Amino acid sequence: MPDGCQGVGQSALGASALDRPSTRASAVVEFARESDVDLSAAGVDVVMSTGRTTLNLALSVDGFIATADGGVSWLEAIDDASDDPDALDSFRAFFDGVDCLVMGSRTYEKILDHAEWPYGQKPTYVTTSRALSPATDAVEFYDGDVAELVRDLERRYRHLWLVGGGELARTFLRQDLLDELWLTVVPTVLGSGIPLFDDSLERRDLTLQEAIPYASGTVELRYAVDAN
Ligand SMILES: NC(=O)c1ccc[n+]([C@@H]2O[C@H](COP(=O)([O-])OP(=O)(O)OC[C@H]3O[C@@H](n4cnc5c(N)ncnc54)[C@H](OP(=O)(O)O)[C@@H]3O)[C@@H](O)[C@H]2O)c1
Repeated sequence: MPDGCQGVGQSALGASALDRPSTRASAVVEFARESDVDLSAAGVDVVMSTGRTTLNLALSVDGFIATADGGVSWLEAIDDASDDPDALDSFRAFFDGVDCLVMGSRTYEKILDHAEWPYGQKPTYVTTSRALSPATDAVEFYDGDVAELVRDLERRYRHLWLVGGGELARTFLRQDLLDELWLTVVPTVLGSGIPLFDDSLERRDLTLQEAIPYASGTVELRYAVDAN
C-alpha cells in the first residue's frame, strides 16, 4: 500500500462488478436501441467502451483530499493495516481488479515524495504538460485531451483506477468520464486543503451501491455515476 496514500484508495470490488460493462457505454447502447439507431453505421465504435473507470480515493469529512501543501499524513492512521485488516483486504481486492491507473502529475509527484513506486508494473498514465521522469517503465505521461485518453484506455483495459487528485477528478466528472465514485470518508475535519469538489462542477446524481464502515472509523461509499 502506498505510504501516506492509502486514501489514494482502499476498496474492494466484487467479481460480478468486474463483468459489468461501463455504465456510460450501456447508456449509449440503450439509447441507440430505443431510438433504433445503428451505432456502427453512425461511425460509433461501441466495442471501445467496454472498460470502466472508477475514481477511488479518501477524503476528509469536509471534502478535502490533502492539506493545502499536498500533505496526506492525516491518512497515515488508516494506512496501518494492523488497525484495519478488512479495509486492507478491500483495497487489495480493488487493486487486484484494476488493470490500469490514471493520475494527475501532482498526485504522481506526491506519491514519489513519500515512497518508492507502490504500484508495481500496472500500466500507469500520468497527465502532465511537463517533462517528468518515469518512476518505472510502466509509467507513461500524457498531455492532451483526457477524454481521448480514457476512450483509448477503456478499449485496451477492463478497469481503470483514477487515483486522483482533485483537479483531474473534476475534469473526469465534468467530461462524464467516470462510471463509479468510491469515496473513503476519513473521520477528520481538515478545515482547509485541496478539495475534491468545487464550483466548477455541475449537478451529478449518484446511486449508492454500498456503504461499508471499517474498524478504524472510515466509511467507504461506493456510488455509480448516473448517466447524464
Ligand atoms: N486523499 C486521497 O486519497 C488522494 C488521492 C489522490 C491524490 N491525493 C492528493 O491530491 C493532491 C494532488 O491533487 P491536485 O488536485 O492538486 O492535482 P492532480 O489532479 O493530482 O494533478 C493536477 C495536474 O495534472 C495535470 N493535468 C490535469 N489535467 C490535465 C490535462 N487535461 N492534460 C494534461 N495534464 C493535466 C496538470 O499537470 P502539469 O501541471 O504537470 O501540467 C495538473 O497540474 C496531492 O497532494 C495528493 O497527495 C489524495
